[in-house]
Amino acid sequence: MERQQQLFFSFACYFYCFLVLVLALLPLSNAIESPQYTVMRSEPGMEIRLYKESSWMSALVPGGTSFEKSTKDGFHRLYQYIHGANLNSSNLTKTAPVLTSITTQSSHESNYVVRLYMSAKYGEASPQPNPELNLVLDKWRSHCIAVRKFSGFAKDDNINKEMEALVTILGKISGGKPDSIEGKGSYSIAQYNASFRQLGRLNEVWMNVSGFAAEGCPS
Ligand SMILES: *[C@@H]1O[C@H](CO)[C@@H](O)[C@H](O)[C@H]1NC(C)=O
Ligand SMILES: *[C@@H]1O[C@H](CO)[C@@H](O)[C@H](O)[C@H]1NC(C)=O
Ligand SMILES: *[C@@H]1O[C@H](CO)[C@@H](O)[C@H](O)[C@H]1NC(C)=O
Ligand SMILES: *[C@@H]1O[C@H](CO)[C@@H](O)[C@H](O)[C@H]1NC(C)=O
Repeated sequence: MERQQQLFFSFACYFYCFLVLVLALLPLSNAIESPQYTVMRSEPGMEIRLYKESSWMSALVPGGTSFEKSTKDGFHRLYQYIHGANLNSSNLTKTAPVLTSITTQSSHESNYVVRLYMSAKYGEASPQPNPELNLVLDKWRSHCIAVRKFSGFAKDDNINKEMEALVTILGKISGGKPDSIEGKGSYSIAQYNASFRQLGRLNEVWMNVSGFAAEGCPS
C-alpha cells in the first residue's frame, strides 16, 4: 500500500514537474525578439530605459499628414523586405515593435520614418534590401529613452495625447530642467502587436532623453 502511494506520488511529481516545465517554456517559444534594455527609473505613467546598441531597417515617408497612413505605407515596404525582397532572397527573423518616428514639419505636415528592429543575430550584416524599396539601415548607439505605455490601437487621434502626457511627466520629474527631451518636436510610437489582435494590445510613446546621468544614462 505504502509503496503504491510512493509510486503514485513520484509519478504525480514527474507529471507536475513536466507540466511546469512546459508552461515555463511556452512563452519563450512564442516570444518575438525585441531590442534589449534596462529600466533605469520607473515613475507612474512612464519609465526611463537604457537601450543597448541596435540596428533598425528604416523607411522614410516624407511629408505626410496621417500617422496611420504613413505607418501603413512604410510598414508595407518593410514587410516585403523581411519576406524575401532582399539581396539574399531570404525570410528574415520577425521582431517587434514597429516603430514610427514623427518629426513635425509644419502645422499640418510631418516626416515619418517607419522602422523595424533587426534581430541581433544579423550583427553588422543585415541583408541588403532590394533597392526599389528605398530602405536604409540606421544604427543607434546605446542611449536612454523615456517610455509611456498605452493599450488599444495607436491612431491619429490618440497618439498626440499620449505624447503630451509623457512630456508633462518628464517636465515634472526633471524639476524645471526643460532640456531633458532630445530632438524637440520628434517622438516615436512603438506598436507591438499585429493589427488582427483586438485585445491586450501594447503600444508605447518613445522620446530620446538626456540629463539622467545620475540614473546611469550615457550623456
Ligand atoms: C546574405 O548573403 C551574403 C552573400 O551571399 C552572405 O555573406 C550573408 O551571410 C547572407 N546573410 C544572411 C543573413 O543570410
Ligand atoms: C518565406 O516564407 C513563406 C511563407 O511565410 C514561404 O512561402 C516562402 O517559400 C519562404 N521563402 C524562403 C526563401 O524561404
Ligand atoms: C534617438 O537617439 C539615437 C541615438 O543617438 C538616434 O540615432 C536617433 O535618431 C534618435 N531618435 C530620434 C527620434 O531623435
Ligand atoms: C502584444 O505584444 C506584447 C509585447 O510583445 C505582448 O506582451 C502581448 O502578449 C501581445 N498581445 C497579444 C494579444 O498578443
